Amino acid sequence: MTADHSQHHSNLKNKEIVVAITGGIAAYKTAELVRELTKRGSNVHVVMTKNAMEFVTPLTFQTLSGNPVINEMFQLFSGSKIGHVTLSDIADHLVIVPATANIIGKIANGIADDFLTTMVMATTVPVLFVPSMNTKMWESRIVQGNIEKLEDLGFRFLEPAAGELACGTSGKGRLPEVEDIVETMEDVFTLKDLQDQKIMVTAGPTTEFIDPVRCITNRSSGKMGYALAKIARRRGAEVILITGQTYVKPPRIDIEVIRVTTAVEMRNAVMDRFRECSVIIKAAAVADFRCRTESCQKMKKTSDAIVSLELEKNPDIIAELGAVKEHRVLVGFAAETENLTKNAADKLKRKQLDLIVANDVSKADIGFGSDDNEVTIVETTGHVKQVPRMSKDEVASIILDSVKKCLKKKQRKEDWY
Ligand code: C5P
Repeated sequence: MTADHSQHHSNLKNKEIVVAITGGIAAYKTAELVRELTKRGSNVHVVMTKNAMEFVTPLTFQTLSGNPVINEMFQLFSGSKIGHVTLSDIADHLVIVPATANIIGKIANGIADDFLTTMVMATTVPVLFVPSMNTKMWESRIVQGNIEKLEDLGFRFLEPAAGELACGTSGKGRLPEVEDIVETMEDVFTLKDLQDQKIMVTAGPTTEFIDPVRCITNRSSGKMGYALAKIARRRGAEVILITGQTYVKPPRIDIEVIRVTTAVEMRNAVMDRFRECSVIIKAAAVADFRCRTESCQKMKKTSDAIVSLELEKNPDIIAELGAVKEHRVLVGFAAETENLTKNAADKLKRKQLDLIVANDVSKADIGFGSDDNEVTIVETTGHVKQVPRMSKDEVASIILDSVKKCLKKKQRKEDWY
């Protein structure tokens, strides 16, 4: 059986989160958000405006959060776990989802005529607005002016997504996906210890074409690389993710994603951009070979019992980088089925890497496609760190700790000379 460890690495665990709902059609999606936050271990308190209750009922949110829903200005917390203290005193974070043009306008102009607006005025905790409205309203100078004013005061906004809207039109105004909202909330509680770094991550498989419909690829899902990109960004780094074709959704909306298909395309993208990065993490599963000639037409079935494909070597991207990386930290991955540490250590030397992360791909329940991983990190000093089975997010965090150590060591060396 495989346990779901995917939620373990969350900075939202044990946090008191206030989710305020205002009167927009996207209010129904907030139920999913509350569910996700409680799954990550937050204690959620839901506040609803009068207009929100036209769209959704307090009962849904009381059931999902396990706490009483606050929808009146002078409601006391009698009978609830938090007693008579005010919510703004115990809250760690307040998020307004969906935030209508009306609530943004009221708060920007100092109106405090209900529980939510009064709480925002009284609170000192970080506040995140997640607006959702019709495109024309979103673009209006009134709304944009109010947002600018609130941003200047330190309030945070997550921009709406583009797509089909409930009013029948299409454009910017949709509520962002729940996972994007949660990811933005995770930021509030994450130490930005990689703030000054620009990190390139390569991820996923490469695909080499045989003919227009057939290809050679491998079982990499890209999840390990995506977790590295996500956690690096959470910790403040600027991130470029170069990814092969995978069904996994890019991990954050605020990282640069470059999509490639073949190993040669990946090589070109990497060589084009690595100079601006201080760290390069090569988590991609690059095909070692490609077809020598790619057929323009679909290859026909023949009577031959055996057909052979002629393959030629692909560029070894990481070895090429190793030779020109200079001060940059270069991290490689090694998928092994035997002699894990020894093979990884050899590869580290041969390819001039600073760190290598080895995983045993012969184990069926970790690695490829899984949300969990178990790895061995080998440093140039010979130091070996065993990382037992845990979520890929947690593994990513530990790898990034080792990267940080490398960066510090290099920095010290530079200071010395
Ligand atoms: O030699 P091996 O393929 O096991 O090395 C794995 C490491 O090398 C990974 O970090 C992978 O991204 C990188 N690699 C590469 N170019 C290749 C093959 C592997 O950059 N052609």
